[in-house]
Amino acid sequence: MKDIYEEKCKKIYWLRPYFGRRNNAKATSTVLVVVAFLFVYLFLFAARRLDHSMFSGHSNTKSQAKEVQDFPLDCLSWSQTLTCPKTYPTSHKNLDRSSGKTCPDYFRWIHEDLRHWKEAGITRDMVEVAKRTAHFRLIIVNGKAYVERFKKSLQTRDLFTVWGFQQLLRRYPGRVPDLELMFDCDDRPVFNIGKYFKRPNPGPPPLFKYCSDPWSLDIVSPDWSFWGWPETNQKPWEMTLKDIKEGNKQVKWKDRAPYAYWKGNPRVSPIRADLVKCNVNNTPNVDWDTRLFIQDWDKESVQGYKNSNIEDQCTYRYKIYVEGWAWSVSEKYIMACDSPTLYITPHFYTYFARGLTPLEHFWPIRETDKCKSLKFAVEWGNNHTSKAQEMGEASSRFIHEDMNMDHVYDYMLHLLTEYAKLLKFKPTIPPNAMELCSETMACFADGKWRKYMEESFVRQPTDMVPCTMPPPYDPSTLKATIDNRTRAIKQVEMWEDEYWKNQNLKH
Ligand SMILES: *[C@@H]1O[C@H](CO)[C@@H](O)[C@H](O)[C@H]1NC(C)=O
Ligand SMILES: *[C@@H]1O[C@H](CO)[C@@H](O)[C@H](O)[C@H]1NC(C)=O
Repeated sequence: MKDIYEEKCKKIYWLRPYFGRRNNAKATSTVLVVVAFLFVYLFLFAARRLDHSMFSGHSNTKSQAKEVQDFPLDCLSWSQTLTCPKTYPTSHKNLDRSSGKTCPDYFRWIHEDLRHWKEAGITRDMVEVAKRTAHFRLIIVNGKAYVERFKKSLQTRDLFTVWGFQQLLRRYPGRVPDLELMFDCDDRPVFNIGKYFKRPNPGPPPLFKYCSDPWSLDIVSPDWSFWGWPETNQKPWEMTLKDIKEGNKQVKWKDRAPYAYWKGNPRVSPIRADLVKCNVNNTPNVDWDTRLFIQDWDKESVQGYKNSNIEDQCTYRYKIYVEGWAWSVSEKYIMACDSPTLYITPHFYTYFARGLTPLEHFWPIRETDKCKSLKFAVEWGNNHTSKAQEMGEASSRFIHEDMNMDHVYDYMLHLLTEYAKLLKFKPTIPPNAMELCSETMACFADGKWRKYMEESFVRQPTDMVPCTMPPPYDPSTLKATIDNRTRAIKQVEMWEDEYWKNQNLKH
């Protein structure tokens, strides 16, 4: 079944250049159809203009509001002409207004991620080094996006990532500056900071990824799942947030099962395999207060994903977050539930994770000795219910407010804007790149792929003005932030050690 989907997905825009060539024989008939359509279009356009001028004397706000700004997917004319619609606005009307609202604090890490290029800027040679592992090059010139594809990504990560950038351009037309960037859709960071400043390298390669770590140069950007992850039935983020909000209401926090819950695939990393050992029926006579479940995606896909609804997972008081092969997409779903997240020490960070503070948004869990660490956390929470509840609500608020789709787009906008400022060359459209529009991607897609695209489709430029980018951290505040983080984690480890020491004395 997957193969059929993959066939379909392959056909989507990546193969579009071939599609055009194969249809050369039909070119003449296509031209005729195009001409005919043009006439009809011009006629309709003229008629509308006439209509406008006839009524322009009245200021009927209602009909005006209805008439402006809705640009649905236009697959009919796209399939006739194979060219992107030219009707979409090219500039954002609020271009010089300021929202007066400062972006959430985690946006400040954009400056940190780009600091390696602050002095010397980004040259074309550096970008070309980043091509080594990239799946595609994204080019933006005069407000239009183009993509040059190098290789296929896992599932349809690349497609939904590119879709996300395309929706950003629709949301804020004319605001995204000219740029070229390399994007790698795999999990782990690629370029080590220590290696790339020395010759013969032209300088640090800037590569966009979904996650990075403190030893890597990679620049983090929102992952594909914000626009949907059809292969696992994960709807676009906006819909998922609504579902979780509803799910959250089903059981009040105090009435939730007083255990630490996790469901996932333990085979992707040794840390997960180790976590599963803490399960209730693994060690006889010991209950680590965890309830761990193995996710079998193949079985779930056969059963229609009935048992993997995120919104039905808000029935436990605590939820465990553990990384997979790298960061895990589940992070944002887990933290949205009003139940404190027991966060197993991570090795990687996503674009938003650095905005989370231990003991405020999550409870840190040791990577070694997880079972004891988890048991202590659950007991502590059950002893300090109002503090635990506060923590769950704080992470929920962070996810539902600071990370809603508005902020996802604002983050991308600011990241791309700051990145583009550093470019030392003029972005150009490579010969084998193709112009992107939503039609090139969605019109070939079907099933969940099409559905999620339609659901996350930006129909018109937003009325909103992006939040204001906060300034970079000054070095002392940055150090204090990191120190505070370390201190909070150390504090929990001390409590934990003391608790287990006393337990051992009792026995
Ligand atoms: C929770 O409270 C019980 C009873 O007062 C106590 O024995 C236990 O040590 C406490 N556990 C933690 C982790 O605070
Ligand atoms: C660090 O923690 C202290 C005490 O909790 C707090 O007053 C201070 O504002 C924190 N600093 C930063 C940069 O978060």
